[in-house]
Amino acid sequence: MKQNFLIVTLALILISGAGSDVMAAKKKKTVVKPVPVLTIEQRIDSVMATLTLEEKVGQMAQYTLDVIGREARPAVSPAEGPGESYDHFEFDPVKFEMVLGKMKVGSILNTTNNKAQTTKMWSYIIKTIQQRAIKETGVPVLYGIDAIHGTNYTAGSTLFPQGVNMGASFNLALMEQGSKISAYETRASNIPYTFAPTMDLTRDQRWSRHWESYSEDSYLTAQMALASLRGFQGNNHNNIDNNHVAVSLKHYMGYGVPVYGKDRTPAVIAESELREKFFEPYRQALQAGALSVMINSGIINGVSTHADHRLLTEWVKEDLNYDGVLITDWNDVENLYKRDRIAVSFKEAVCKSINAGIDLVMVPYNLDFCNATIELVQEGKITQARLDDAVRRVLRMKFRLGLFERPYWELTEYPNFGSKAHEAAAKSAADETITLLKNENNILPLKKTSRILVAGPNGNSMRTLNGGWSYSWQGEKTELFAQQYNTIFEALKNEFGANNVKYEAGVTYKMDGQYFEENAPEIEKAVAAASDVDYIVLCVGENSYCETPGNLDELVLSENQTNLAKALQKTGKPVILVLNEGRPRLIRTIEPASKAIVQIYLPGNYGADALADVLSGDVNPSGRLPYTYPKYEQGLITYDHKPSQNIEGKMEGAYDYGAQTSVQYPFGFGLSYTTFEYSNLTVDKSQFASGDSIRVSVDVKNTGKVAGKEAVLLFSSDLAASISPDVRRLRAFDKIALNPGEVKKVTLTLPADDLAFVNEKGKWVLEAGDFRLQTANQTTIIKCTQTKLWDTPNR
Ligand code: BGC
Repeated sequence: MKQNFLIVTLALILISGAGSDVMAAKKKKTVVKPVPVLTIEQRIDSVMATLTLEEKVGQMAQYTLDVIGREARPAVSPAEGPGESYDHFEFDPVKFEMVLGKMKVGSILNTTNNKAQTTKMWSYIIKTIQQRAIKETGVPVLYGIDAIHGTNYTAGSTLFPQGVNMGASFNLALMEQGSKISAYETRASNIPYTFAPTMDLTRDQRWSRHWESYSEDSYLTAQMALASLRGFQGNNHNNIDNNHVAVSLKHYMGYGVPVYGKDRTPAVIAESELREKFFEPYRQALQAGALSVMINSGIINGVSTHADHRLLTEWVKEDLNYDGVLITDWNDVENLYKRDRIAVSFKEAVCKSINAGIDLVMVPYNLDFCNATIELVQEGKITQARLDDAVRRVLRMKFRLGLFERPYWELTEYPNFGSKAHEAAAKSAADETITLLKNENNILPLKKTSRILVAGPNGNSMRTLNGGWSYSWQGEKTELFAQQYNTIFEALKNEFGANNVKYEAGVTYKMDGQYFEENAPEIEKAVAAASDVDYIVLCVGENSYCETPGNLDELVLSENQTNLAKALQKTGKPVILVLNEGRPRLIRTIEPASKAIVQIYLPGNYGADALADVLSGDVNPSGRLPYTYPKYEQGLITYDHKPSQNIEGKMEGAYDYGAQTSVQYPFGFGLSYTTFEYSNLTVDKSQFASGDSIRVSVDVKNTGKVAGKEAVLLFSSDLAASISPDVRRLRAFDKIALNPGEVKKVTLTLPADDLAFVNEKGKWVLEAGDFRLQTANQTTIIKCTQTKLWDTPNR
């Protein structure tokens, strides 16, 4: 293999030298025969020709760093000298040799001991791995990491607000910029591949990964994912430059709607919804060049997604002609055997998943994977063609990432890692995500001389601001890494004066406890501390968590926190309720007596500074809820429900069939310190057919006294259809900034085909008839003149 690799390398040297030869020839006026540039496919061919079966199988395996290394105390990395207190790593020489030397594994992921490393340590780790892999097979390793909201496994990186916040910003430019910075800082960590963006539709508010994704809405999710994709990968997915990284869209698909609300439990999704809402964002991002996609750990309609040939091979690889990589989620091949029981052995599970269409297996510990796969190929249970297809896809990704030319790089190439400019971008993102849900008698903003009691378990914690995937999987190591940033208490002291702000928690999370456990409450202490303040900023919500450990038995805010809120409300001091939570915990009993309610979700390291600016009025809040905030356990509903689920009041007719569902706040809700007036909604065509593009314009005026930003949301309603239509669907949006008195005409483009739906036969159809368009209080009716039925799976 090594010999052939040398030939490929030689060809490359010739290619890269070709330009200078031509220049020299021009000067000398002689003609030089151009060296043919090999295409990526030709380069894959030459590598494939050299690989043994064992080496090919190695390319399909991804192991976790823990398998080949460990945290060392005290550590001295041979290359870099003593690390920081949190920077201890050493390779396990025996396992290192086994995995890279013997098994010839082509991919590694994540960190060791579930802990962030410095860029220096990353550089040492990756260089060591790459040098060994190249010596062995000539093929560089694909190193992947969960860089979800910034490069969250690297100390000193810029942590952005989580996905739910970005959805609330309704600002695609901020999303793109955040991902671009994350890409840069991931590269600065010598890593070319992230397991992001997370684009699960968060249509079940109980789900423990609600906060990782953008929205319950398919359109908003698609737009955010596309913006993130642009930021991460740049403009040319065939040639990702040194400032960008490959993505793994995740988790394909339907992961966010487990019937029982618990992570990794089965989902039941109507076939039409699966294609129309769940698949659509993936289709768009896959077709826009996403280099890989990670598969849903769960079961949809009875079929484990990791063994679902139809969803993996037919929908993605065949229908979309997708040539990227389908990667499993963590241990999900083994899960087919041990958890789902659709295989009698690990080997059979491997067989089923690879034949369903999996290309790269995040094993991540089981050392039997390679042998099992080799045997399956030898036994003919996995065909040579399937094996080669999977390996080619992995190699294609490595070529597209330029890893054959540069398997690692220098820290000095990334001077802006963790820079002030990156920090400012994360702060602006946090500013635009904060969502003002209540502001009785305009109690906010507060005067800068206000005396404030900060209370609640989230009032003085960096961990709760960041949530999971922050320096560690569950976010429990955040305090170790994030001391330089401000908690809410610290940020309010900076904003309102150290002498004006005090903290008395009243309720605290157990530091060493399991996720939501709380210590015995000390509510009286907080009540007593409220006696000499003007306002109480009560910070409630959730501790950090992620995946299964975040499962809940009830959605209501904890009893201690609810009691704390009630006791503080009884003091008569105005309570400003700050919600710092990964999913909407029910607050129905404490909402009425809260004078203001501010949803900050999981705003990241600069979230408290953003909140302080919002409370003082330095920042005018402009976030909008990217989901429906429920009021009751039995009232979990999304905004795009059916008319019979009627949440908007009684239905007309002989009988009220309405299954009334009250919600706390609707999708898209969010207040501002100013007011906006909408007028002159116009469309450029009132009649349309498939293929048309409808331009919708509306004037928006800032009628208040301060500057503000406004998310302009355009909804459509199909007034009658052959199957009961959703009451409303978001079709377009824009975010604009307006000074007091300023008017802007906002024009949104609505492709007519976006008004199509998937019918009960699984076919896209745009039906003739009337549609109502609505933005704020403006509505108009447009008419589709002709029905169009698609006979292809996608529009
Ligand atoms: C999660 C994925 C993640 C993977 C690797 C899994 O448990 O579901 O989102 O990318 O681990 O860390």
